[in-house]
Amino acid sequence: MPSLQSVAGWVLLAVALFGQENVEAMDDTSAASPTVLITGSNRGIGLEFARQYAQSGWRVIATCRRPSTATDLQAIADEYPTVVIETLDIANPVSVGALADKYEGQPIDVLLNNAALLGDPRPQVFPDIDFDLFERILMTNTVGTIRVVTAFRDHVRASEQKKIVVLGSAAGSISQVSAAPNSYLPYRASKAGLHLIARNLSLHLAADGIAVGLINPGLVDTRGILDLKPGDPVPEQFKPVMPLIEQGVIKLQTTEEAVADIRVRIDELSTEDPGRFMNYDGREMPW
Ligand SMILES: NC(=O)c1ccc[n+]([C@@H]2O[C@H](COP(=O)([O-])OP(=O)(O)OC[C@H]3O[C@@H](n4cnc5c(N)ncnc54)[C@H](OP(=O)(O)O)[C@@H]3O)[C@@H](O)[C@H]2O)c1
Repeated sequence: MPSLQSVAGWVLLAVALFGQENVEAMDDTSAASPTVLITGSNRGIGLEFARQYAQSGWRVIATCRRPSTATDLQAIADEYPTVVIETLDIANPVSVGALADKYEGQPIDVLLNNAALLGDPRPQVFPDIDFDLFERILMTNTVGTIRVVTAFRDHVRASEQKKIVVLGSAAGSISQVSAAPNSYLPYRASKAGLHLIARNLSLHLAADGIAVGLINPGLVDTRGILDLKPGDPVPEQFKPVMPLIEQGVIKLQTTEEAVADIRVRIDELSTEDPGRFMNYDGREMPW
């Protein structure tokens, strides 16, 4: 997992130069390949999106908060010259505006809103809620995502494919709330709000020819659960669902499997049937 340390000035300079070279490289390939912009692509599902789109020959604008520590993403960019790494903090209006300005006039075929803050589970339980954390979660997952969509909608409108993807979550499905679940309230509330925004955008932007897809990735192994050996400690957020995973009630997918499935949904996305909430396998998700 990437370190969250601050970085020395020379590293920032190297990253800046690295980024410039890649923008030039992208300009050379722009005529042939579609472009995807991915938020939060330094780890987890976002990293795998970057890898798979790069492997398929797409131009990938792989964004993350700290490019200098995004070593796994840098390895992908080293292998595929169509990948450029950019700094983007979706909760920071200046950061979002700066990147949108930098790419002004450049079409983005798929705007992939993947980034989200899950947060420490302990202060997300009623009544012991950390309201500062609650605000950060909302400002990232809900407000940050619509801010990115607002900033980049013209880039998407100018593209061939015209698609905006929002990764939702079963955890934000209100009709699935049952049996007094009392965990991750802020995260779940942020996703429920995001779902409403995505449905609204989907119906609204269809008139512009822009397809908006709200997709639940399912339970995806971004924390190395499938690699655990008997007796290894289980990460806190997986403890409630571990029995269900072990009994096979919930399928825990690898990032490779989940992203391959979600990419099929993205390929199928059109403005003909707007306002859906889809599971990664194409089934309808309950709101
Ligand atoms: N994994 C699952 O089982 C699952 C299930 C349902 C839905 N989802 C959804 O799928 C998406 C990806 O999940 P994941 O499991 O891959 O998440 P993850 O492993 O926790 O990674 C989250 C990513 O979002 C980034 N991020 C957080 N705050 C950000 C900000 N302010 N600006 C830019 N990037 C930010 C993180 O960057 P840093 O490294 O800088 O923190 C990281 O790259 C999320 O929307 C999540 O809600 C996942």
